[in-house]
Amino acid sequence: MTHTLNSRALAEEAERIIPGGVNSATRRIGAPWAWRSAHGATITDLDGRDYIDYHAAFGAILLGHVDERVNAAVTAAIQDIDLVGLGTTELEVEAARLVTESIPSAEVVISTMSGSESVFQAIRLARGVTGRSYIVKFQGCFHGSYDAIARNVISTPETAWGMDPNSAGILPDALEHTLVAEFNDLASVEALFAEHPGEIAAVILEPVPHNVGALLPEQAFLEGLRELTRRTGSVLIFDEVITGFRHALGGYQELCGVTPTSRRSASRWATATPSPVSPDRRS
Ligand SMILES: Cc1ncc(COP(=O)(O)O)c(C=O)c1O
Repeated sequence: MTHTLNSRALAEEAERIIPGGVNSATRRIGAPWAWRSAHGATITDLDGRDYIDYHAAFGAILLGHVDERVNAAVTAAIQDIDLVGLGTTELEVEAARLVTESIPSAEVVISTMSGSESVFQAIRLARGVTGRSYIVKFQGCFHGSYDAIARNVISTPETAWGMDPNSAGILPDALEHTLVAEFNDLASVEALFAEHPGEIAAVILEPVPHNVGALLPEQAFLEGLRELTRRTGSVLIFDEVITGFRHALGGYQELCGVTPTSRRSASRWATATPSPVSPDRRS
């Protein structure tokens, strides 16, 4: 297929003023290069070619492109208020309330601008409340650009499970407290807990690892993670950046019936009998 017209020209212009010509590395796929419009399931490039969009911006376009209801709601929301650098607003409280009503484990809500920022907040919180350093992630799960978690996503066979940073420029110190386990293999997680008793702050996963092609989790694996983290005083974090609101309104946790750590479950876990493998050392 030749791409000689406007799409290619805009892509070349983009390459001159945007690093790599795209605002997210995963958007750099070559042709088709540049888009003029998007409606429903159809996206149209600058040369007038129509495409059916099965990708939906990595799932972010829940209701199809340029949905009238979404646009009307956004337009209405900015008529009376915009950014006020103090206090809170009715809309923020309403949005937080809707999230707590929709997602089984959500009791309190903080809004962020990106998935990376949410992951960063969750990991910092887990380290803060547990007083522990290590986190466990899974080979193949992607959690964004926060240094501490930016390793072992689409690894080669040689680098899988070894130290495989997502980018140059990340200090080894930032990654060394992140341990890598095998998805759907509870024994690989238990082995890490046995190696680091009382030192693992959190286990984080995409409940369905969409970033490496939508692996389905085994129910026993999810239940095992829930039990292991509860027993050892670790925080279980579900990164539902992709699964949230898509698999179900309440995210994948609504479908599988396994919920990540919440304040309610954390207070239960704080009074639970410490595990002989990994005692909860919080005072
Ligand atoms: C599961 C998951 N977590 C986190 C992120 C990071 O989100 P963001 O690109 O908004 O920082 C992504 C991005 O695709 C993701 O798929």
